[in-house]
Amino acid sequence: MTLEEQKKRAAEKAVDYIKSGMIVGLGTGSTVKYALEKIAKLIEEGKLKDIVGIPTSKQTEERAIELGIPVVTLNKYPVIDITIDGADEVDEEMNLIKGGGGALLREKIIAQASRRVIIVIDPNKRSKKLGEKFFVPVEVLQFAEEAERKFLESLGAFVTKRLNYDGGHFITDEKNVILDCKFGILENAAKLASILNERAGIVGHGIFINLADEIVTGE
Ligand code: A5P
Repeated sequence: MTLEEQKKRAAEKAVDYIKSGMIVGLGTGSTVKYALEKIAKLIEEGKLKDIVGIPTSKQTEERAIELGIPVVTLNKYPVIDITIDGADEVDEEMNLIKGGGGALLREKIIAQASRRVIIVIDPNKRSKKLGEKFFVPVEVLQFAEEAERKFLESLGAFVTKRLNYDGGHFITDEKNVILDCKFGILENAAKLASILNERAGIVGHGIFINLADEIVTGE
């Protein structure tokens, strides 16, 4: 099976968890896109009724609207039944690194507001410890960029500011920048997460501790 087939298989399997009437968190990325297509198909066939979706990014919002999935806001529906999202790395305890697509802040807000979070990945994203395969994306206020860069470097990170494909600065949906931080293997990801949580200029980071309820791989 190709990687793409594994991603599709995982995403479509996760959609089985959605039942009519649910409020659904819609993740971001190239794996979740298959879940969006499947949800839309089931709505069209009348197999899923009265579903509303809360997107984790503008990109997902646009795609959901295009596909005919009804989109609502988190403020109107602050408790989500189920969220399907991707991840960049998953460790043995089901902790995650997310944010490769830049939507980490809304993704974490939506995960925290969800009764159940299903993560869809291809098997290559599994690791023993976080940091083996992916860097840690850190979302920073533009005002605080250089101060937070210094702080992150003082923690031992090799820091790179995220750029767009055209070389311009990547700006998140919340108008912040992303500093991608290579820490190497995270011996204590939960501790690092809480240190990052303490900084006023850091509005979010891609370490997700105890937020996933199930991991679906394409195997
Ligand atoms: C978006 O910000 C990310 O957290 C994605 O969920 C993650 O990067 C997975 O994306 P892919 O499914 O495209 O690998």
